[in-house]
Amino acid sequence: MARLIWICIRLLSVVDSSQMSSHPIIGILGKSIMLTCSLNSSAPIVPARLTLYWTARLKHQKEEQVVHALYNGEENNDPQFPVYKNRTQIFKDQLSSGNFSLLLKDLRVEDDLATFFLFYHQEDGDYNTLNQNKEMCVTTVKVAKSYHKPIVTVNYEEWKAECTSQGGYPKPRLTWTNQNGLLDPEVPQIVQDAGSGTLNISSTVNITENQTVTCAIFNPTLKETLNTTRSTGGEQEGLSSSIKAGIGVLAVAVIGSALVLVYWKKHATEWWPIHRR
Ligand SMILES: *[C@@H]1O[C@H](CO)[C@@H](O)[C@H](O)[C@H]1NC(C)=O
Ligand SMILES: *[C@@H]1O[C@H](CO)[C@@H](O)[C@H](O)[C@H]1NC(C)=O
Ligand SMILES: *[C@@H]1O[C@H](CO)[C@@H](O)[C@H](O)[C@H]1NC(C)=O
Ligand SMILES: *[C@@H]1O[C@H](CO)[C@@H](O)[C@H](O)[C@H]1NC(C)=O
Ligand SMILES: *[C@@H]1O[C@H](CO)[C@@H](O)[C@H](O)[C@H]1NC(C)=O
Ligand SMILES: *[C@@H]1O[C@H](CO)[C@@H](O)[C@H](O)[C@H]1NC(C)=O
Ligand SMILES: *[C@@H]1O[C@H](CO)[C@@H](O)[C@H](O)[C@H]1NC(C)=O
Repeated sequence: MARLIWICIRLLSVVDSSQMSSHPIIGILGKSIMLTCSLNSSAPIVPARLTLYWTARLKHQKEEQVVHALYNGEENNDPQFPVYKNRTQIFKDQLSSGNFSLLLKDLRVEDDLATFFLFYHQEDGDYNTLNQNKEMCVTTVKVAKSYHKPIVTVNYEEWKAECTSQGGYPKPRLTWTNQNGLLDPEVPQIVQDAGSGTLNISSTVNITENQTVTCAIFNPTLKETLNTTRSTGGEQEGLSSSIKAGIGVLAVAVIGSALVLVYWKKHATEWWPIHRR
């Protein structure tokens, strides 16, 4: 029944998709966002004769999905798309004052750039349409999450610096600069976490000695830049890192031999009598 009504509503509103210009609102991944909607009508609203459908059109999709439905004053989530299960709330006690706002919880990356809108229909006591609107409160949602401060590591064997940053959304702009301006990095690697949908990015750039390099991560939705600066050492640094590695190997060898020696000395006294016999 609910689905049938839904289909009828869609047929009615096919003509009306002109109101798509809407300013986006920004929500944080995993948090809630309020899609505000209030009817500015002087006619009294009788919830028992009110039908509302919050609907979404996902990014790059023509098809619409039911987000939350109220039919003759009763919430009816049969036609609700599974992805919105347990994630939506309307304020039934405020319907009579024309507050049709929707709280969308636990934002996901799939919600990014989805456009939400409301169909509403109000009847009088004789089932005559008092008023209706097929696409009101059109709202586009952008989902974002801050990146972690980038970490820059220097590899002196290959004279490369690597910048990594994790756990953000959407895809960031990564830039490398030194004291003279922009550097030309390799194509950054971006991986997406299967569970949360957040992204990890890493980028490497060729370096020379005595440079001060900065890796900056810009989140285009949050308009947030995080950067980390590192100075590369001179030739000695490269050399000394090899030397350090060398010393490390040497130290392990020395300590290892020492331990063998101590062990041997300790047990030698136990072995000698056997051999003497
Ligand atoms: C109702 O009025 C408010 C404030 O003037 C406005 O922001 C909102 O868009 C209006 N609602 C509709 C459905 O036009
Ligand atoms: C929605 O909540 C109910 C009750 O808490 C739970 O049984 C159900 O598994 C939830 N569904 C989803 C898709 O999270
Ligand atoms: C609608 O109700 C919600 C929940 O009480 C509230 O947060 C919101 O401000 C109300 N919106 C308007 C326009 O009154
Ligand atoms: C970095 O240096 C290597 C050789 O050491 C070179 O093959 C590569 O093209 C350089 N990358 C860039 C982005 O200039
Ligand atoms: C992203 O980075 C975090 C922190 O290092 C790590 O736990 C996670 O596995 C990474 N995700 C992917 C998809 O590599
Ligand atoms: C790095 O971030 C600081 C603020 O934390 C800012 O003042 C500075 O301009 C940024 N540098 C670059 C190269 O983006
Ligand atoms: C890098 O700095 C070191 C120490 O200040 C200096 O000895 C060396 O000549 C510098 N190398 C270049 C290429 O400027």
